[in-house]
Amino acid sequence: MIFKYRFGNPIPTDTVVKESEVREDAVPFVTVLEGESISYEMADADIVYGLGENVRGINKRGWTYCSKCSDQPHHQEDTHSLYGAHNFLVVSGKETFGLFLDYSGVVSFDVGYTTKNGLVITPADWNFDLYILTGESVPAIVKEFRGMVGRSYIAPKWAFGYGQSRWSYMTADEVRQVVKKHRENDLPLDSVYLDIDYMERYKDFTLNEEAFPNFEDFVRELAEENIHLVPIIDAGVKKEDGYSVYEEGMEKGYFCTKEDGSPFVAAVWPGHAMFTDFLNSEAREWFGNQYAFLLDKGIDGFWNDMNEPAIFYTEDRLKEAFEKLDGFKGKNLAMEDFWALLDVTGSLSGNEEDYKTFYHEMNGQRIRHDKVHNLYGYNMTRAAGEAFERLSPDKRILMFSRASCIGMHRYGGIWQGDNKSWWSHLLMNLQMSPALNMCGFLYTGADLGGFGSNTTEELLLRWLAFGIFSPLMRNHAARDTRRQEIYEFEDIPAFRSILKLRYRLLPYLYSEYMKAALDNEMYFMPLAFAYPDDPRAARVEDQLLVGESLMIAPVYQPNAGGRYVYLPESMRMFRLKRDGSLESSILEAGDHYVEIPADEMIFFLRKGHLLPMAEGGNSVPEVDFENLTVFAYPDDGEVSYEYYHDDGVGKDYDNPENRAVITVSGDVRGYEVTV
Ligand code: NOJ
Repeated sequence: MIFKYRFGNPIPTDTVVKESEVREDAVPFVTVLEGESISYEMADADIVYGLGENVRGINKRGWTYCSKCSDQPHHQEDTHSLYGAHNFLVVSGKETFGLFLDYSGVVSFDVGYTTKNGLVITPADWNFDLYILTGESVPAIVKEFRGMVGRSYIAPKWAFGYGQSRWSYMTADEVRQVVKKHRENDLPLDSVYLDIDYMERYKDFTLNEEAFPNFEDFVRELAEENIHLVPIIDAGVKKEDGYSVYEEGMEKGYFCTKEDGSPFVAAVWPGHAMFTDFLNSEAREWFGNQYAFLLDKGIDGFWNDMNEPAIFYTEDRLKEAFEKLDGFKGKNLAMEDFWALLDVTGSLSGNEEDYKTFYHEMNGQRIRHDKVHNLYGYNMTRAAGEAFERLSPDKRILMFSRASCIGMHRYGGIWQGDNKSWWSHLLMNLQMSPALNMCGFLYTGADLGGFGSNTTEELLLRWLAFGIFSPLMRNHAARDTRRQEIYEFEDIPAFRSILKLRYRLLPYLYSEYMKAALDNEMYFMPLAFAYPDDPRAARVEDQLLVGESLMIAPVYQPNAGGRYVYLPESMRMFRLKRDGSLESSILEAGDHYVEIPADEMIFFLRKGHLLPMAEGGNSVPEVDFENLTVFAYPDDGEVSYEYYHDDGVGKDYDNPENRAVITVSGDVRGYEVTV
């Protein structure tokens, strides 16, 4: 059941698509102190799931999280806000209920941080809709919530292949080289990403013609090799006379303005830039139409970046900083002065004050940015998603964003922002994934191998062994870091077998993804979602279920050589050897130490379930999704699996012919699926 309560006069977020009636009775479960907080007293054993993109574990207890889309390239365990704002959680235990705050402003969630059992939610102002959701289980509550916020974005099938990225591949020839090296080394690949340098001096919807001449031909040339080029689009539009996007946006009044009506300007990659008012539907439509520049050249995928929006500095803040610096000149610095001095430049980027100085025109109302901060990246991606419906009504376009808010999940996926080549960020990737799914973000993945700092062969191998299960599977690294393409490392055969396994698993992974999107189910799940009566399963923070049949237990520590795995029931363990062969054995329920050398990986098939697998291929079009080998762990006799299969391009998702039931007893080789 859904209970909806309205406080004050909320700014519409367009997050909820299935409306419920506003109730006047007391809010169940929680204590509402109007103007102050919403709180709940947890029992010791309660678990809190959700909050989407955030640091820390699957169980969110023990920290304070703040929904405020933030550019956080150095985030670690003590960070409070990342790139997304995802205000949905489920308390499981003494009472089990879901809570969603439909709100565009900043809000903090103290989940047993100030006091061990206190869950305290504090919005910046008191204008929001509060939803409480009940149901017979945690997954049932999540499903109800997902139905309320609408169907998750569905990516084209090719976007489930492996993607290689780097900031930046500077020329067409460099991209050709990346493709060639993958093909030469028999390494699957479906996409190469273009970072900001493909543009002419970081101007959205332009091309650096010198570095990427005859772009259309280049896109076609790569398409012939089953490679999709995926360019980045930044939120900031360069302020430059003669640049048509800037001039048109200015003329039409589509950029955010300051209090006095003058244009708001802030520096990002292109230098001084303008910020499209994505909350104004006309401006949104206008910006969305700009994607046609690249769509018309054969591009069919994009990533939207810097849309929190990230701000490096504004002239106002810079002026203030220089004045402060002047004050330090010639001074004999005490320690406090020295720290204050460092702070002067350190606080220029993402400065809170800047977000209070610009305005949006939303449904004829002028609204200060900080009140709607979390809707910005959402609406940039919505601009693209709505445009794709107009410009490409029959063909899916890949779209994922850095900043997000629930609601955006209908228009695109997300990547998990600027992580680091750290083992802890591999674990964080795993722990964040189910929380994102709860909030509707199914097409997600982190930068495999880590974005900032230098990766190692072992870290990349282990990260890929997890990453092959992520819908978005992309290796991306920052400028000035060690080259991170697989062929740059020694043990190419080990990488090859892991990558090829992804392509063998694609029929299952894609089918599970599609069912999760269409039926409002989870793709990545904490163990407790499937084994609610097992108190041990509830505490497992480093294993996940992937769809209905698989469980994974990745290695996320250096030099580990293996790990403990907890099995809530007997499962069939598969071991991928470095030559690509798969061995399997039955493991009983309970704890096991499993040796897993870095050039091998393991995964588990649940009892009573099936795993359809293909022969594989070096790109998605090479994978045969109809002739499958079906692995089973039969309980007794027959086992069935609902297999979703479509062309991966069109949008006829609900056609019942896309679903077939596979029923077998025992492993079956060469099983043909007719859908
Ligand atoms: C920040 C993004 O998070 C990162 O992925 C990208 O490489 C850089 N911007 C440069 O565009």
